[in-house]
Amino acid sequence: MQIPTISPIELIAFLILVVPTIYALLGAPFVPTPLPRVRKMLELAKIEPGDKVYDLGCGDGRLVHLASREKQAKAVGFELSPPIWLWAKIAQPFWNSKAKIKFRNFYKQDISDADVIFCYLMPETLKKFQKELGKLKKGTRIVSYAFKIPELKLVHHEEKVASKNYSPIWVYEI
Ligand SMILES: C[S@@+](CC[C@H](N)C(=O)[O-])C[C@H]1O[C@@H](n2cnc3c(N)ncnc32)[C@H](O)[C@@H]1O
Repeated sequence: MQIPTISPIELIAFLILVVPTIYALLGAPFVPTPLPRVRKMLELAKIEPGDKVYDLGCGDGRLVHLASREKQAKAVGFELSPPIWLWAKIAQPFWNSKAKIKFRNFYKQDISDADVIFCYLMPETLKKFQKELGKLKKGTRIVSYAFKIPELKLVHHEEKVASKNYSPIWVYEI
């Protein structure tokens, strides 16, 4: 039996594509927020034109695209899974937005200028992210879909809608 071999280029391609995808999957698998919930999150975030808005793990970019197009925010989405990031980039013209979609690990980004942060991440990931909260400026709103962020000042809680399978929305302020 012949042992299959792998060339250095195949190995590098594998590492570039698969490693970040698995890492991002552990942070939160790609499950997009339903669009009516996205609109609710945008409303609750009280975005003013020119506000700096981040989505930590932006998926197809729906939150940052709508924040840019409909609220005139300076919106940036970070996405670490290569296929999802590519999808978000390809879909950008259809959203007609000026949002930036960056292929980045959000843990390593400076988001200290944020006015609004959106997230839809697993509780363990949110816990890890909590360490970064001390760097945020006073008044920053954090809008989390589905999962609570402990120890933050809760300013609004939108109940889940079981009939539509919508999860709750948690709004915090620094
Ligand atoms: C549940 S989805 C939410 C997508 C989008 N925010 C939404 O609400 O529709 C979470 C996304 O976070 C991404 N992700 C997880 N960990 C990440 C990290 N450390 N850096 C960047 N993206 C990450 C995943 O690849 C996935 O696309």
